[in-house]
Amino acid sequence: MVLLRSKTTSVFLLISVACYSCSPPEKPIKCSSENTNCTITNSYGAFPDRSTCRAAEVAYPTTEQELISVVAEATKNRRKIKVATCFSHSIPKLVCPDGQEGLLISTKYLNHMLKIDVEAMTMTIESGVTLRQLINEAAKAGLALPYTPYWWGLTIGGLLSTGAHGSTLWANESSVHDYLLELQIVGPGGAEVGYVKVHLEFLEPFHRQSIYRIGDRVSTNTSGNGLYNSTSFRPIPSLELGSIRTLEELLEHLSYADGKYASARTITSKLLNTAYGLSNNDDDFTGYPVIGFYNHLQASGTCLNSHRINSACAWDCRVNGSFFHQTTFSISLFLAKSFIQDEQKLIEMEPKAMCGVELYNGILMRYFKTSDKQEDAVDFDITYYRSKNPMIPRLYEDILEEVEQLALFKYGTLPHWGKNRNLAFDGAINKYKNAREFLKVKEVYDPFGLFSSAWADQILGLKMV
Ligand SMILES: Cc1cc2nc3c(=O)[nH]c(=O)nc-3n(C[C@H](O)[C@H](O)[C@H](O)COP(=O)(O)OP(=O)(O)OC[C@H]3O[C@@H](n4cnc5c(N)ncnc54)[C@H](O)[C@@H]3O)c2cc1C
Ligand SMILES: *[C@@H]1O[C@H](CO)[C@@H](O)[C@H](O)[C@H]1NC(C)=O
Ligand SMILES: *[C@@H]1O[C@H](CO)[C@@H](O)[C@H](O)[C@H]1NC(C)=O
Ligand SMILES: *[C@@H]1O[C@H](CO)[C@@H](O)[C@H](O)[C@H]1NC(C)=O
Ligand SMILES: *[C@@H]1O[C@H](CO)[C@@H](O)[C@H](O)[C@H]1NC(C)=O
Ligand SMILES: *[C@@H]1O[C@H](CO)[C@@H](O)[C@H](O)[C@H]1NC(C)=O
Repeated sequence: MVLLRSKTTSVFLLISVACYSCSPPEKPIKCSSENTNCTITNSYGAFPDRSTCRAAEVAYPTTEQELISVVAEATKNRRKIKVATCFSHSIPKLVCPDGQEGLLISTKYLNHMLKIDVEAMTMTIESGVTLRQLINEAAKAGLALPYTPYWWGLTIGGLLSTGAHGSTLWANESSVHDYLLELQIVGPGGAEVGYVKVHLEFLEPFHRQSIYRIGDRVSTNTSGNGLYNSTSFRPIPSLELGSIRTLEELLEHLSYADGKYASARTITSKLLNTAYGLSNNDDDFTGYPVIGFYNHLQASGTCLNSHRINSACAWDCRVNGSFFHQTTFSISLFLAKSFIQDEQKLIEMEPKAMCGVELYNGILMRYFKTSDKQEDAVDFDITYYRSKNPMIPRLYEDILEEVEQLALFKYGTLPHWGKNRNLAFDGAINKYKNAREFLKVKEVYDPFGLFSSAWADQILGLKMV
């Protein structure tokens, strides 16, 4: 299971990809003195359990050699380690080193495109390269990486680690790791090898067709200069974000579902009218289909490096923007219908229960077709209000939790490892048929458990708390 393998061993991927401009969103790592005495959080500024994670130090290697020596030094001292990225977009506490004295290794400056082989249709990149960088560089060479997530700000190391994916049933693979050919992993080693081991992994032969494919849905001479500049990922004025949130909090406080329904209507119709940010030509949306180049359509995220003052990504915690939970899981295609019917039964009982979800664009469903998701699946992405005050329940919390439990326990769905509340990981490891092999591989890459944390061990069923 590639998905888990790279995630929890958290050994360092130096896939033969940081950030274009890290300026606008807040940095996830803050240190009281230069690179020591640090805290780390995610891009939302809060983990599901609202804890703050600490690390004694952060290292910013800029080359493979520097990375190797950082890992060797930390291994020699048996320090706990975790890999951090430029923005830290995963919701769960994957990035927290065990204890308070750990070391964070950031891939912020490991952001180089090392090689592009147009003929072989491959790219060799460092793991801190962002999706935006990758898509743009690939396009310059006439290549494309199909079925990626839709948000520019993710790094390749992060994407591979959590099994992130796009959507398709056409091709045979819809996850980023399905396009991986080789992976160079820098991990701890014994004294005899200088405390560091560089593993080079070759992936299964059928993946070798290409890592990055030329987008060939329509002939390139088909006219069209389409652009997807997602409305949700544009910089939004802080004042607007603040007032949307204040209204949402007020409606929650008043338990006024009809009010949520009305605001959801406004938002939905605005999105529909603006075609979610799609345009056919020069910012004008004239109708579907939107035809254009892959690199202009697959992903977006202009809020990432907007230099507009007083505007931010919708979830930026420095302004009082949106604050939410995400429940994201994938369910076998064969069971999806039955799950949806169960969900509909619940909604029939309480028709207003889902209005709050509509404020976050409703339930996003994507198709999943991969070698390791065990079977063809539909991925459900549910985003919903989270109170800033942990003691205050959400409106219709019971219904949403029922949906979550149906999915996770009745239908045994697999969680998205980069999203979800902790509940989603309870017993999750037992749902993977290759879990045992995964744990063996984890042992090989990280024999001293330096990348393990109490939290991760619990999730992997290794240690009960
Ligand atoms: C706005 C938004 C949209 C999203 N859309 C999608 C989507 O469409 N589809 C989807 O599947 N997911 C989506 N996600 C989830 C996202 O893909 C995952 O959370 C992803 O893991 C985040 O990548 P990151 O670079 O921020 O990594 P982080 O969250 O910083 O790291 C994730 C994990 O990977 C480890 N890691 C990172 N780099 C390395 C490395 N080089 N070596 C070893 N370990 C490493 C970290 O230690 C951590 O455990 C979205 C997230 C956001 C915020
Ligand atoms: C570490 O930072 C915290 C604040 O985040 C501060 O209270 C503490 O004194 C610092 N410790 C050292 C050793 O600098
Ligand atoms: C998917 O895989 C099958 C069997 O390996 C193959 O016959 C088919 O052509 C593949 N489809 C695509 C779109 O790659
Ligand atoms: C587009 O290219 C295809 C082949 O690549 C060709 O058959 C077709 O005539 C071209 N169409 C136009 C409008 O040029
Ligand atoms: C997307 O929209 C934003 C805000 O409207 C704008 O600043 C940005 O230039 C657009 N991005 C592209 C690639 O057109
Ligand atoms: C956010 O809201 C809190 C109270 O709800 C307020 O104290 C704070 O000043 C607000 N911050 C901004 C940036 O508006």
